[in-house]
Amino acid sequence: MKLVKTIKELEEQLSELRLQGKSIGFVPTMGALHRGHLSLAEKCIAENDICVVSIFVNPTQFNNKEDLEKYPRTLERDSEYLAQAGVDIIFAPSVTEIYPEPDTRQFDFGQLDKVMEGKHRPGHFNGVAQVVSRLFDIVKPDKAYFGEKDFQQLAIVRAMVKQLDMPVQIVPMPIIREASGLAMSSRNERLTGEQRAVAANIYKTLLESREAMYLNQTIEDTIKEVTDTINSFDGLEVEYFEIVDGETLQTLPEWDDSDYVVGCIAVFCGDVRLIDNIVYHTR
Ligand code: PAF
Repeated sequence: MKLVKTIKELEEQLSELRLQGKSIGFVPTMGALHRGHLSLAEKCIAENDICVVSIFVNPTQFNNKEDLEKYPRTLERDSEYLAQAGVDIIFAPSVTEIYPEPDTRQFDFGQLDKVMEGKHRPGHFNGVAQVVSRLFDIVKPDKAYFGEKDFQQLAIVRAMVKQLDMPVQIVPMPIIREASGLAMSSRNERLTGEQRAVAANIYKTLLESREAMYLNQTIEDTIKEVTDTINSFDGLEVEYFEIVDGETLQTLPEWDDSDYVVGCIAVFCGDVRLIDNIVYHTR
């Protein structure tokens, strides 16, 4: 496995491999890797000749300076995990390497980034689109892998690829959970043992709400019940819970209004913000 820090070196290596006819898979990350990331890397390795994983904490997608500063940086440990998994190249550039000049591009995603994460983290998805498009331009992958935990991010990346007409196939990967059901996230590292235990109630409550749906509870009642139940746990506070169409991400009045119904949630556990989602139905 090679650790590459400059665009020049990465481009040299990849163009040589492309000349040899090798397919290139790509997993963009911000490091602090967990089993969720490794599942993306494993799929990428299985489906491509070469697997590139980037580790770059992208400043333009943080709308909170403290969150950016507190974001865990664990390159040494991440490199060990990726070497064990069989990744070929880690790309770990500096901020000036990715942004020699400030990126002033403004993307227009219509309503996609006006809801949920986009509403609560203004500018976040513009920053994600900036960095992912920049990384795609550098790596030029055949396939790129994204986790479904960041459900809205996946929709934004797909929209961006379509808008920029990029020749990359986006591969969605299922959420990986801890034994308790808590969705794996780099942010979980900031939870105390007690907080981790209480945070497991997020997914437990989402699962119960799916049962309630089958018992014909309305969307409005489901939203209220999920929110009240989660808020009743000491240390948990729901920021939003929305039940949306899985493609447009717009809220739904009735279960039957879409063939693909997903519940998306953001919850503060102390000062750590966790997101999760559940598919209610796909037809
Ligand atoms: O999901 C993430 O870790 C980041 O948003 C991504 C896609 C690596 C872009 O910085």
